[in-house]
Amino acid sequence: MNNPSIQSQSAEFQQQYQDGPFPALIVNADKDLDLDGTVAWARENKEHLFKALSDSGTVLFRDFPLSSPEDFDAFIGAFGESGFTYKESLSNAVRVNLTERVFTANEAPPEVGIYLHHEMAQTPLFPSKLYFFCQIAADKRGQTPVCRSDVLLDRMKETMPEFVQNCRDKLVKYSLIMPASDDPESGQGRGWQSTLGVETRQEAEARLAKLGYSWAWLDDGSLRTTTPALPAIREATNGREAFFNQLIAAFLGWADVSHAGVHKIAFGDGTPIPADDMQRICDMAEDLIVDLPWQAGDVALVDNYQVMHGRRSFEGKRRVLAALIS
Ligand code: FE2
Repeated sequence: MNNPSIQSQSAEFQQQYQDGPFPALIVNADKDLDLDGTVAWARENKEHLFKALSDSGTVLFRDFPLSSPEDFDAFIGAFGESGFTYKESLSNAVRVNLTERVFTANEAPPEVGIYLHHEMAQTPLFPSKLYFFCQIAADKRGQTPVCRSDVLLDRMKETMPEFVQNCRDKLVKYSLIMPASDDPESGQGRGWQSTLGVETRQEAEARLAKLGYSWAWLDDGSLRTTTPALPAIREATNGREAFFNQLIAAFLGWADVSHAGVHKIAFGDGTPIPADDMQRICDMAEDLIVDLPWQAGDVALVDNYQVMHGRRSFEGKRRVLAALIS
């Protein structure tokens, strides 16, 4: 990197893998560096930084002069990649846009934790990368847990090869109920109109049909949807296979929809995914977690194909913003 005051560093919270530390940590010690200088530095070092991302799956940038959503937006812009807009996504989280690229990460209340997931892997449309920016760190907890899904899959191949084979052969599908309107109290409370980007039931059905979903309207005006069979394993940027899906978050966190006659997660042929297997996977993933210890001004760049993320519950005010890359 071309500024001697900006260096890779090691820290106690990192894990060590054969391809280096997870996450990679890049710290700025140049007190005179301003926003323009930061953006220029990021642009000039893009190749090096993206190599670090591909090796590690996550890069944490610390002590750069970034304090507002606009600063964060400018930093992301340095890499010149196109955004994945929340509006066109099928995300089930309630969010608020601050700039065209930047939005609040999740409006769910502080006591609600968010389980590990790959962003939007429960839909056919998902981003390749995510940027997080800590504008205000919580008084207590509020870290962003991250987990290497390629390492998790390696462990699953050793300990539960049959399950892995079922994922390959049958794929997986997800069922959830989209509320009649946005419910900001829930981590997955986005209403069907907003989720699907439509106004009427007819438009909703047309969008779902195009995406290969099946659906049913429920008596209270909510909409039960089931995805087409989606891959649960995918090749990550570094060429390794990763456990790329939403199974953990769905298993641990999503509302039970059995009252509506479906399992929230199933193999693609409709057979249920055994809860015992899911619990083992959750336990293995928990062992691999690194909790990103936010400081105000931090940016984390996460490879969505390789690394899962979540959110710890917190106390106090916390403001973590996000942006997605298509
Ligand atoms: Fe997320």
